[in-house]
Amino acid sequence: MKNAVNPFFTKIVIPDEYFCDREIETQKLVFFIKNGYNIVLKSPRRLGKSSLLMHVFNQDEIRKQYNTLFVDIYGTKNMQEFTQELQNAFLDAPFAKSKRGAEKVKKLLAGAYVQMNLSPDGTVSGFKLGVNPTPDLSVPMREMFSFLENTDKPNIIVFDEFQTVLDYPEKAPAIIRAQVQKLTNTTFIFSGSSRHQLDRMFEYPNEPFYRSATPINLERIPLNAYQEFAVRMFRYYGKDVDEDAVSIVYNLFSGNTYDMQEVMKGAFSFTPKGKKADLSIIMDSIDDILDRRDPDFRDALDRLNNAKERSVFFCVAREGIALGMTSTAIIKKYNLDNASSVQHALSVLTSNEKNLVKRNGKGYLLRDRFFELWIARSEKRLQHLIDNAEARFNQELSLS
Ligand SMILES: Nc1ncnc2c1ncn2[C@@H]1O[C@H](COP(=O)(O)OP(=O)(O)O)[C@@H](O)[C@H]1O
Ligand SMILES: [Mg+2]
Repeated sequence: MKNAVNPFFTKIVIPDEYFCDREIETQKLVFFIKNGYNIVLKSPRRLGKSSLLMHVFNQDEIRKQYNTLFVDIYGTKNMQEFTQELQNAFLDAPFAKSKRGAEKVKKLLAGAYVQMNLSPDGTVSGFKLGVNPTPDLSVPMREMFSFLENTDKPNIIVFDEFQTVLDYPEKAPAIIRAQVQKLTNTTFIFSGSSRHQLDRMFEYPNEPFYRSATPINLERIPLNAYQEFAVRMFRYYGKDVDEDAVSIVYNLFSGNTYDMQEVMKGAFSFTPKGKKADLSIIMDSIDDILDRRDPDFRDALDRLNNAKERSVFFCVAREGIALGMTSTAIIKKYNLDNASSVQHALSVLTSNEKNLVKRNGKGYLLRDRFFELWIARSEKRLQHLIDNAEARFNQELSLS
């Protein structure tokens, strides 16, 4: 302990001693892996799926007995890019770390490379993966999968943000499933942030992945676990933090792991040794984050140049949890046009492209809680939000 300058991590890979809670989830995942179940892990963004999976990979009983591959396909656009990410995970996998293993992996990928006619002279010098369009996409994937079938240790492959494959032009689920089901010594973990898309893939009878994985919903870290963690971290470093202030952070950010870690990281850095962080230090930390993100938020507002979308966006921001957006009351209160134009603006704001607003049951919220706080700060409503954090979080829970 005490190696890190700051015990509140905001990166995906977190050393065990700075990892908060998730003991039951870790045990459960290890249990499923050891018993050969594929898993589909779901939760809203930034609650901690990727970090948890990395944490599981790092457990002795997993690390020593399995080859672990983490394939992040977020942002990939087609099967070729998917395959490329898989190849990258191969180059990174434990079996590629030994000299002999590295040779084998290189040979494997080079084989696929030559086979795809991507290397006209058949050499592997200047070896670069997936730079050209591949004629037969299933070739390199098939090669890689048959390699996996013959590894000394069993394998675990995480496909992170797996719902991304639904946007590929190819029939990706069918292509991938055909390969996946051939393997006898590899466990697959499909992880993703879009609950309804993953449910469709894994729970609809006509879908290729129907019932091929055990679902796990990752919930928020419970308030008392996060409080205990935060206090313990401060104390290790000869500092302290007010538990009530931590619970305000929890409520204010609805238990979003990333947001809380970001705030606590700042609060920790602002607290001198021997002192206790209180609400005012927490506020300083939030202030500091909002200052740093100021240019991002200004840009986002600049890009929101459609007057209707902009006013609907501000309306959602001010409401916090915006209910009855197309009601006469709201339309009047915010001087909006009419129900159908509000509806249209909402569909733009929630679209993948804009991605500024999200839906929660019947309500709408800004996707980024810091953005909401930034607007509130500019309108001198920040204190009000803090005073009402608990009620607001409870309302959010009652909607979802
Ligand atoms: N158990 C944890 N303890 C401490 N920090 C965590 C924990 N889980 C996640 N985090 C932090 O929250 C951030 C968001 O988590 P991440 O795993 O990226 O979420 P997701 O994959 O669900 O979008 C991570 O970058 C990490 O820094
Ligand atoms: Mg993730």
